[in-house]
Amino acid sequence: MKGIILAGGSGTRLYPLTLSVSKQMLPVYDKPMIYYPLSTLLLAGIKDILIIATPQHMAGFEQLLGDGNQLGISLSYKVQEEPRGLAEAYILAEDFLSGDSSMLILGDNIFHAANLQGVLRKAVAENVGATVFAYPVDDPGSFGIIEFDALGRAVSIEEKPAEPKSRYAIPGLYICDAHAPEIAAQVKPSARGELEITSVLQAYLDQDRLSVVPFGRGTIWLDTGSYANLLDAANFVQLIQKRSGSMVSAIEEVAYNESYINAEQLRRLAEPLIKTSYGDYLLKLVAADRQEANMGA
Ligand code: DAU
Repeated sequence: MKGIILAGGSGTRLYPLTLSVSKQMLPVYDKPMIYYPLSTLLLAGIKDILIIATPQHMAGFEQLLGDGNQLGISLSYKVQEEPRGLAEAYILAEDFLSGDSSMLILGDNIFHAANLQGVLRKAVAENVGATVFAYPVDDPGSFGIIEFDALGRAVSIEEKPAEPKSRYAIPGLYICDAHAPEIAAQVKPSARGELEITSVLQAYLDQDRLSVVPFGRGTIWLDTGSYANLLDAANFVQLIQKRSGSMVSAIEEVAYNESYINAEQLRRLAEPLIKTSYGDYLLKLVAADRQEANMGA
């Protein structure tokens, strides 16, 4: 399975913050926003990832993340010329996927849960067709919404419905089999002129090949769509990190825990960050493991 991070879009809802900076490059407390979706893919066990961004912001992502070698992963890049809709990600990713299944994550979606790794890996392992997640929200008119029948089976999917049939939103995290690019190629633009991801999901639902995994109460899904949401997300990350003593979505830590990089590589990644609590945290991870190794010896 390969990963796709969709990090384009116009960011107009955050102007003037995003007039010259990509939304997915904005800080969420102590790290650029894209670190969060990237760490989610890494937690799911995905190491081969395509980042899709606008022509004007592509260079920034390449500068920030490079080819991924420093994290023991592979990162590729693809330009989306215009924000034609989320479903276009699959069309742009067709060559990259080259017949593989995928996990697509929106570059502004942040997930946090103690058991996220287990939930994601199970969903990946059990996927037939497509799998989405469901999360109850107070403002269903702002999301892709999934309706269930009395037996809990998905019956309809609607993008930002005026009259929502449920309060279960579909977060921006989608697992699809190898057919997604050909399904996306058939999608017609919606009334608002976009190739909607919900149309791709509806096609899987029509074929009875869509699974829905409800996110449990312990899962936090954060939206960064407005000034207030962006600040809430930063405050949330700060609070969790302060109280737990562990960092949320430090990509270097995830890569290290997954054994994609060793202690020496982690130390080298921490070095440029040495003046920050981020760098300090990474160095402590190295030191703690060295201590453990010495005690074991
Ligand atoms: O956050 C979850 C929601 O994301 C889903 O429930 C909806 O079904 C889905 O359509 C999407 O809704 P949004 O209103 O949040 O979509 P938005 O247009 O804000 O785009 C989401 C991200 O994808 C954003 O970071 C920009 C990026 N994007 C968007 C478009 C339309 C692209 O990279 N390319 C695009 O063409």
